[in-house]
Amino acid sequence: MTIDIRPSIFSVGSELGDNRILLTCDEVSLYFELRNGRLWSLSSTYPLPVDMPEQTRQREHCALLRIAGPNDTDCFMELERCLASSLREPVRALDMGTGCGEWVVNMAVALPEVHFYGIDIVPIFTRCALPNVRFELQDLNDDLYYPDQHMDVVRAHDVSLGVERFPNLISEAARILKYGGVLSICEWQRCIHINDGSDIAIRAPKACAFLMALTQHLHVNYGISPVVSSVKVAIEQEPNLAALHHEFSIPIGDWPVDAFMRSVGTRYRQVLVGYAIAMIPFLTRVLRAEDVDDLVGGFISDLYYVRGLSTTYYSGYAIRI
Ligand SMILES: C[S@@+](CC[C@H](N)C(=O)[O-])C[C@H]1O[C@@H](n2cnc3c(N)ncnc32)[C@H](O)[C@@H]1O
Repeated sequence: MTIDIRPSIFSVGSELGDNRILLTCDEVSLYFELRNGRLWSLSSTYPLPVDMPEQTRQREHCALLRIAGPNDTDCFMELERCLASSLREPVRALDMGTGCGEWVVNMAVALPEVHFYGIDIVPIFTRCALPNVRFELQDLNDDLYYPDQHMDVVRAHDVSLGVERFPNLISEAARILKYGGVLSICEWQRCIHINDGSDIAIRAPKACAFLMALTQHLHVNYGISPVVSSVKVAIEQEPNLAALHHEFSIPIGDWPVDAFMRSVGTRYRQVLVGYAIAMIPFLTRVLRAEDVDDLVGGFISDLYYVRGLSTTYYSGYAIRI
């Protein structure tokens, strides 16, 4: 039997173009858990929901990162370079924690000669059939199925919330990359600051309290380390990778004078509001509901009333040596 998982029913499913996912009842009970009216991954500790509202939020997040960050162009150029230089070997790219598979599908349309793979812990990737795309269920906390030196590009963007030991993921990426292949990483540092350099703990104490509580409980309960210390160090310590590190900022809110950046900041604030709301069920597992309401409400209020907020992303571009 097949059921149509539309937003009004279970709110799961990828919509890229007109494509909608049809999941069988077996698939739903195998991979998803319905809690608080939202869908979650059944088999992992990933703390965010995996349903349509969350996918919509993540797509908006990705769109903003494409504007502010350097990475996706780098991957595209690297794959074009591989195509030009490899006469017989297939060129392959892997997207770890692919979500609805938007990056994979966009790239597969632009580069039809490249074989694209997308992996995730839940089957929320689009079922849109492109001949050069393969989506697979794999847990990033396990060793990957792919053989050594198989991929030309490996991308892992915004996956740290689902990865307990980031060094393992980095060494797996290094193992499956061909010599000269590229690893692209991008992660939010889960902290904010004020653009004039003033003390964020004084200017936005409620936003800081939320982020500190989140970081602490992710670490204590799920073993997820703060992003700056884990991801960057893991890449640095991997002997088979030579890395370039970048950081880039995104404004939060409508304070930038420049009209374009004001629109980015306004949209990004909404993405963060959605993030905080999506974290409520996770925080409610470890804190009293009233405390969670105060933390999330305080975070959102600071995002609206404190001017000059921005946040930083880490982006790593590493070459397999
Ligand atoms: C924040 S989304 C990012 C999606 C995509 N990489 C992007 O940049 O838009 C994180 C994705 O990682 C997946 N994920 C979380 N933990 C995972 C794990 N242990 N193994 C595989 N995928 C995982 C989630 O299901 C979700 O689709």
